[in-house]
Amino acid sequence: MNKSPESRIKELREIINKHNYNYYVLSDPKISDFEFDALMKELQSLETAYPEFADPNSPTERVGSDLSKDFELVQHHYPMLSLGNTYSEGEVRDFYERTVRSLNESFEIVAELKYDGTSISLIFEKGILVRAVTRGDGTKGDDVTANVKTIRSIPLQLFGAGYPDLFEIRGEILLPWTEFERLNKEREVQEEPLFANPRNAASGTLKLQNPTVVASRKLDAYFYYLLGEDLPFDTHYANLEAARSWGFKIPDVIRKCTSLEEIFAYLTYWDKERKNLPVATDGVVLKVNSLRQQKNLGFTAKSPRWAIAYKFQAERAVTRLNLVSFQVGRTGAITPVANLEPVQLSGTMVKRASLHNADIIAGLDLYIGDQVFVEKGGEIIPKIVGVDTDSRSIQIGEKVRFIKNCPDCGTPLIRAEGEAAYYCPNEEGCPPQIKGRIEHFVTRKAMNINIGPETVEDLYNAGYIQTPADLYTLKTNDLLRLERWAEKSAENFRKSIDASKQVPFERVLFALGIRYVGETVAKKLAYVFHNINCIGKATIEQLMGVDEIGDRIAQSVVTYFSSLKNKELVTRLTEYGVQMCLSEDALAERSDKLVGKSIVISGTFSKHSRDEYKQMIEQHGGKNVSSVSRKTDFILAGENMGPAKLEKAEKMGVKILNEGDFLKILEK
Ligand code: IVH
Repeated sequence: MNKSPESRIKELREIINKHNYNYYVLSDPKISDFEFDALMKELQSLETAYPEFADPNSPTERVGSDLSKDFELVQHHYPMLSLGNTYSEGEVRDFYERTVRSLNESFEIVAELKYDGTSISLIFEKGILVRAVTRGDGTKGDDVTANVKTIRSIPLQLFGAGYPDLFEIRGEILLPWTEFERLNKEREVQEEPLFANPRNAASGTLKLQNPTVVASRKLDAYFYYLLGEDLPFDTHYANLEAARSWGFKIPDVIRKCTSLEEIFAYLTYWDKERKNLPVATDGVVLKVNSLRQQKNLGFTAKSPRWAIAYKFQAERAVTRLNLVSFQVGRTGAITPVANLEPVQLSGTMVKRASLHNADIIAGLDLYIGDQVFVEKGGEIIPKIVGVDTDSRSIQIGEKVRFIKNCPDCGTPLIRAEGEAAYYCPNEEGCPPQIKGRIEHFVTRKAMNINIGPETVEDLYNAGYIQTPADLYTLKTNDLLRLERWAEKSAENFRKSIDASKQVPFERVLFALGIRYVGETVAKKLAYVFHNINCIGKATIEQLMGVDEIGDRIAQSVVTYFSSLKNKELVTRLTEYGVQMCLSEDALAERSDKLVGKSIVISGTFSKHSRDEYKQMIEQHGGKNVSSVSRKTDFILAGENMGPAKLEKAEKMGVKILNEGDFLKILEK
């Protein structure tokens, strides 16, 4: 007999959860990606057909789709403390001996790796993930549940039984090295600032407003600490093992030690071996195993007395500073780069190091020819952390000072108040800025025109292009005069220029390269103002009225459109057929009926799916947020609205609308 849709949905969720676990936690997939996708598709279509069986913890929810600007600040039930840190084996010995004296009985120490990401606390009720909170200030953190749900190695629903009805589990959210490198390559192409290390990338990602982007970044999470009134075992180690059986990724490198020798052996082994791990680590954490003994040892104001973190020394090398060069980006920002005598560091040859900004340079008091200390503590771009002043000779070179004029066009640099970076203001005449803007204009996510930076350089040097608009008037003969160009490539170029005229307005707006107007902001501006003229005429106040647009972006947009050259560029692009307003279709589906409204969706619906409601809210200018707060305008409630949400809404006096009421608002 065929299964009922409800039981098949349930079964599929269990099967998929298990396969997710095999793949993301155990790294041991049992079925092909193709088979996995087929299961997901089956579940997705059943859930769409039977929305009454929707479940916020279904594996289909992991793609993340709700937009929430404000994270709700929530109180930690148990404060999130930090650990006492040390870099010295002597202090590890002191910690051990102190523990011997304080406990006056035998004890075990659990040695674990210290993962270098961003900490997270998950709350599980009856085996279901109900909330994920960042560390925040240790007592209150941000509720980032929607984002955390996109992390595939985090179980949304636990396996087996034996877990307490209510508990917290803490761990570290990490961006694996390979993902970190991929992300930074992508950002380099987009001229977006690079993440200095996977830790910053992980915490930045976790705080993004759009869970769909979070989902695309492939975060991972390792867990190391359980809290609750009725944990199953009386040792830390046994509880972690239990948590592993419920589906959490508990590192399998944790070890029980009963002597200082074993502890030191663990430190020495992992100081080397950690370089082969897929994620960043920066030390070892030592914890007293017995929960009773932990309780006896207690806490100081800041950290537990039953644990200590031993940090690995960041790898460091000494080399000669040959030169400091200054690069100009497409927005005119100046980046100082140290050129070094090549030196081996953490397995790679280092020739360049970041000097970040003028303040860092001034703080280092650098001279050309100095012997400098270079570190690569999890950073992709090594940095100079100090100068060996003792080795400075009399023949030392010049003092390194931040430049006052643009290295390319000579224009005096400016620095906006409160900003670390200097800019070259000669937007219209500074070659790297001109070329950079054209390179940005043609990228895949912008106009997707089929040429790379080398061609832009050649075309610019040959005097054929000065602005992105010139691409549209290039003659085939001009192209053929360049090296590496033939009929075929010229034709491909023509085709991609033609295709670019169909690129939707929001991408055109992004392609213009207005400072601080990335893809998301461009979309928002396009949907609120509909066309380039309205954006160009908008005042700072009107721009700041748009969700997520603050004074920095608003000011930048106004400045952009106050330039005659920019206005001319827009006019020319319009003449050539580039889209300067939202398409009829995009417009027909939109209104501003919900502008400024913050809306929570809860329960299951019969007329549209949850995702469709989310989309409608956005299309009509509203904001879908995940949790009820005083700022919520109303709750769109279906059947079986969560009791916690209902109670909160009633307490805060937030309006509750049903499907019918909501659709009526849109019809009006
Ligand atoms: S235990 C009360 N174990 O290091 C102590 N923390 O400075 C709870 N961390 O905030 C933390 N790996 O973000 C613990 N194996 C590990 C860890 C670890 C990384 C982080 C965590 C914590 C910080 C403490």
